[in-house]
Amino acid sequence: MCGIVGIVGQEPVAGRLVDALRRLEYRGYDSAGVATIHDGRLDRRRAGGKLFNLEKKLDEEPLPGIIGIAHTRWATHGVPNVTNAHPHFVDGVAVVHNGIIENFSELKDELVSDGAVFESQTDTEVVAHLLAKYRREGMSQRQAMLAMLNRVSGAYALVVIFQDDPNTIMAARFGPPLAIGHGRGEMFLGSDAIALAPFTTEITYLVDGDCAIMTRNGVEIIDYDGKPLVRKSQISQAAAFMVDKGNHRHFMEKEIYEQPEIISHALGHYIDFASHTVKPNQSDIDFGAVSGLAISACGTAYLSGLVGKYWFERYARLPVEIDVASEFRYRELPLSPSQAALFISQSGETADTLASLRYCKEQGLKIGAVVNVKESTIARESDAIFPILAGPEIGVASTKAFTCQLAVLAALAIGAGRARGTVTAADEKAMVKHLAEMPRIMSRVLNEIQPQIEALSRELSRFKDVLYLGRGTSYPLALEGALKLKEISYIHAEGYAAGELKHGPIALIDEYMPVIVIAPHDRFFEKTISNMQEVAARGGKIIFITDEAGAAASKLPTMATITLPNVDEIISPMIYSLPIQLLAYHTAVFMGTDVDQPRNLAKSVTVE
Ligand code: F6R
Repeated sequence: MCGIVGIVGQEPVAGRLVDALRRLEYRGYDSAGVATIHDGRLDRRRAGGKLFNLEKKLDEEPLPGIIGIAHTRWATHGVPNVTNAHPHFVDGVAVVHNGIIENFSELKDELVSDGAVFESQTDTEVVAHLLAKYRREGMSQRQAMLAMLNRVSGAYALVVIFQDDPNTIMAARFGPPLAIGHGRGEMFLGSDAIALAPFTTEITYLVDGDCAIMTRNGVEIIDYDGKPLVRKSQISQAAAFMVDKGNHRHFMEKEIYEQPEIISHALGHYIDFASHTVKPNQSDIDFGAVSGLAISACGTAYLSGLVGKYWFERYARLPVEIDVASEFRYRELPLSPSQAALFISQSGETADTLASLRYCKEQGLKIGAVVNVKESTIARESDAIFPILAGPEIGVASTKAFTCQLAVLAALAIGAGRARGTVTAADEKAMVKHLAEMPRIMSRVLNEIQPQIEALSRELSRFKDVLYLGRGTSYPLALEGALKLKEISYIHAEGYAAGELKHGPIALIDEYMPVIVIAPHDRFFEKTISNMQEVAARGGKIIFITDEAGAAASKLPTMATITLPNVDEIISPMIYSLPIQLLAYHTAVFMGTDVDQPRNLAKSVTVE
C-alpha cells in the first residue's frame, strides 16, 4: 500500500524524504512523488515506476526546501501514471494520501459543479480541492483541515502542506497508520517507524480520528472538532533491526534463511526450553474456559490460521470457526461472548482483519492478536497480544512471518490443551521438545535441499500451471505453496485438499501439469499416495515432498522427490514450509521477476 513521509526540518529535505520512501518500498508501489515549499512556493517532482525514476528527476531538477512531503502510490483509483501520482496540488495546497476516500464521487460532483477542474483520476484530489475551496472562503489552514476531515469518509492517512505556511505539516488518520517522529528542532512523519528509523526513535502513533499539527517545535494532536488530545510517545525498536539484505540477493532469500534463528527467538517467548513446557499464559484470554475460537486473517496469515485450526481442534478440543477476513467481516456470524477470537496479521494493519476484529469486539468476545508489529492497530485494539517476534519482514511474500505465526499457534494450542485437560503433561513435554529441536532441523533442511530445489526450479519455470495437494495440516501448506508460487513467479498455481482432486481438478492433469504433493509419512500418508496414484495414472508430473519414511514407502515415478528428515507432526508444517518457499523463490529468480516487490502487490493492505 502507499507509503507516506513528511519532514519539517532545518536543512533540505528532498533527499531525506526519498531515503525514507526507500524504507517503505517493501509496502509495494507503482509511482512516487515529493513536494517541498521553498521561497514561498510549492513545487513537486513525480515519476512513474520505481524510486530511481524519481531520483533521476530530482537529479535533473533538484527540489530545494526545508519542509516537504513525499509518497509512494499503490494505485486504487486511476492508473499508475505521473498525473495520478501524489502529491496532488490545488491552489497552494499539497496532499498525499494512503487509503480510499469512499464518498469521493459525491464530493467530486459537488466540487465540479462549483467550478473545480480535476487533473487526475484519483480520489485524493477531492481533498486538495476541498481544502483550497475552504481557504478561498476565508478559513485558516487549521479550520480548512478540520472542515475537510468532517466531509470525507473512508479509510485514510492524509498529509497536507499549505504554500502560505512553510512551518507546518498537517496530518490525519482514519484507518491506515501514521507515525510521528520527534527530532531536535525537526519533526518527521511516516507510514511506519521503519521509515523514520534513521531520523529518530521517539515515535507517537496517531489513532483513528486524530489530526496532527506538526511544526519544528513539536506536534499538537486534536480531534476533528479541534479539541486537544494527549498521545504518549514511545521508543521504537525499528532502528534496532538491520533493514538490509546482508549477502543475500533478495530480502525474501534472507528472510527464508533467517527462519531457524528467528523462530528459536520467537519460541523462547512461549516455551521453556529447560523444562519442555509451554510458559503460563498470562494474557486476558483463558483458553481453558472459552467455548470456542473464531480465527480470521488474510492471505498467508489466514493459511497459518488454518493450520492453527487443526491444532486447536485436535489438541485442545476447541471448535474453531475460521474465515478469510474479507468474508468474515460481512458474514454476520453468530458469536458468543464465551468464545475468544484470534486475529493473525504480520503488519497488524490489514483493513479486513481489523474490521473482523471490531465485529468480534462488538459481539463481546475477548480478542487476541497474533502480530509481528506490536505497536500496530490490531495489537492496540486487542485484549491480548501474542507477538510472533519475526523482526521486520521486507519481502512482500511472507515467509518468516508465516513460520513464526505457526510456531506461536502451536505453542498456544498445546497450552490450551493443557489448560483444558486434553493434553497430558507427558504429551506437552514431547511436543515442546520437538518444537525446541525445530530450529536445528530447519537449518539442516535449508542447507540440504537448496541445490536440488534450485535445479528443480529451473524445470518448474517452464510450466504455465501447477497444482499443489496436501491433507491435514499439509492442506493449508498446499494452499500456501500455490499462493507463494503465483505471487512471485506469476505462474498460475492452485492448492487443493488431496481428497478433492477427483471432484474436479483431476480433469486438468496431463503431462503439462506438474503436481506438487506435500505428504509427510503421517496418518494421512496412504490416502495421499492413492491420490498421487490417480495423478500418475493420467500422466501427471509429480513433485513429491515427503520424508525419509515416505520416500521409502512410495514406489511411484516422480519428476522429483524432495526428501526431508522424519519429523513429528507438530513441527511438520514449519519444516515443509521451507521447500515450498525455496521452490517459489528460485522459480521466480529464474523467471526474472521482481521477487521482493512483485507486480500489483502491497505488503500492508490498509484498504478493503
Ligand atoms: C502473501 C502475503 C499476504 C499477506 C496478507 C495479510 O505472501 O504476504 O497474503 O499474508 O496480505 O497480511 P498481514 O499478515 O499483514 O495481515
